[in-house]
Amino acid sequence: MNSGKRLGVGFIGSGFITRFHIQSWVGVRDADIRGIWSPNLEHAQETAALARGLRVGDARAYDSIEQMVSAPEIDCIWLCGPNHKRVENMEEIAHVLKSGMGQLVGVACEKPLARNVAEARRMLDLARESGLLHGYLEDQLFSPGVARGREIVWARGARLTGRPYLARAAEEHSGPHMPWFWRGELAGGGVLNDMMCHSVEVGRYMLTEPGKPRGSVRPTKVSAQIASLKWSRPEYARLLSNMMGSEVDYRNRPSEDFARATFDYVDDQGNLLIVEATTSWSYVGAGLRLSMELLGPEYSLSMNSLDSGLKLFFSRRVSGEAGEDLVEKQNAEQGLMPVVGDEAAEYGYENENRYFVRCFLDGKQPEENFEAGLEVTELLMTAYMSAEQGRVIEFRPDGLESYLPEVAKPSRA
Ligand SMILES: NC(=O)c1ccc[n+]([C@@H]2O[C@H](COP(=O)([O-])OP(=O)(O)OC[C@H]3O[C@@H](n4cnc5c(N)ncnc54)[C@H](O)[C@@H]3O)[C@@H](O)[C@H]2O)c1
Repeated sequence: MNSGKRLGVGFIGSGFITRFHIQSWVGVRDADIRGIWSPNLEHAQETAALARGLRVGDARAYDSIEQMVSAPEIDCIWLCGPNHKRVENMEEIAHVLKSGMGQLVGVACEKPLARNVAEARRMLDLARESGLLHGYLEDQLFSPGVARGREIVWARGARLTGRPYLARAAEEHSGPHMPWFWRGELAGGGVLNDMMCHSVEVGRYMLTEPGKPRGSVRPTKVSAQIASLKWSRPEYARLLSNMMGSEVDYRNRPSEDFARATFDYVDDQGNLLIVEATTSWSYVGAGLRLSMELLGPEYSLSMNSLDSGLKLFFSRRVSGEAGEDLVEKQNAEQGLMPVVGDEAAEYGYENENRYFVRCFLDGKQPEENFEAGLEVTELLMTAYMSAEQGRVIEFRPDGLESYLPEVAKPSRA
């Protein structure tokens, strides 16, 4: 990439997460959003207009991935389509580049990198074969609280009294907004694949000494449990089908709405470290709750995204439309409600995008890359195996490459 050049970014997908990225872009330098593609041209046009309105780039909607990837103003792609289109989207990018069109330097992909290990490995192979720098978009690593807390814990507590040994992380809300998330064969599973990908990676990150490579802590064992606690109850299964359409049938084809797992690691001194992760689509609180703890011999860290500085109170006379204007996945508009002031920054999107833009501009391979995304997928698939077999599984188990969780098998569809 030429020095002094600004990076032109194209988005594949124009849904919920793309809008979050675009809002975060006001805090990103040296890169402009120049393109949006999604199968629905009108949605792509609306999203491009959002980017132009926020003055984060002279974005336009493209008719095809081929057209966007081969446009001279596009230098890198943010992959934000649904999970079941990941590999197809990446294959198309690779195909365009192979035909000699386009000048991409990098691709950044939303979590999860793929639905299973075979697909995640295919994503990595395609990025490598195409000569692209690759980034795995795990926003929680870039949340200001996580970044700052980790820095202080390691510089002070760990340096003086010993490394941290236990990380707890949880992501919980009341359920996803689109039908494909609820269909195991499309999403690659239920909440374990959808949200534990965050918790396992942020836990591993907190336990890794800053400056040391990811391989300095190595996963050794996985123990997990999955369950459908709420959404397969008859009244909720009916409600879900009414909201999402009859293809979502949690009475007969549920994927899990709750999961918990422990991941054992060892560090380069042989010390045991544990990541304890829990996640659910069956949590009804004010809205999305991200919580995290890090424990060491003489210290601890804790954070909870709903403990925000700003709270609003609305009396019972304030009865308006349901919305998502206070917090992501909001469940109420009355009573005492927390408000997350700048969600795109607090959840990490702003720092994340700044980091990946800088890597691509400098021609540097991001540390959080498709290899990291592949390892996360391997850990999640091992967690499904453990839950299905009801036992602790040594990492990496045989058969992982071709393994599909029961809840993700197309034959159930
Ligand atoms: N980092 C996070 O916390 C976070 C949060 C939400 C979603 N995500 C991830 O982002 C991705 C998108 O999620 P979302 O919530 O925006 O979903 P969504 O359903 O709201 O949006 C998906 C978008 O993809 C488009 N699309 C449809 N078919 C496509 C195709 N063939 N190729 C490319 N795009 C296609 C749709 O038109 C839509 O614009 C998912 O992989 C999801 O796991 C990450």
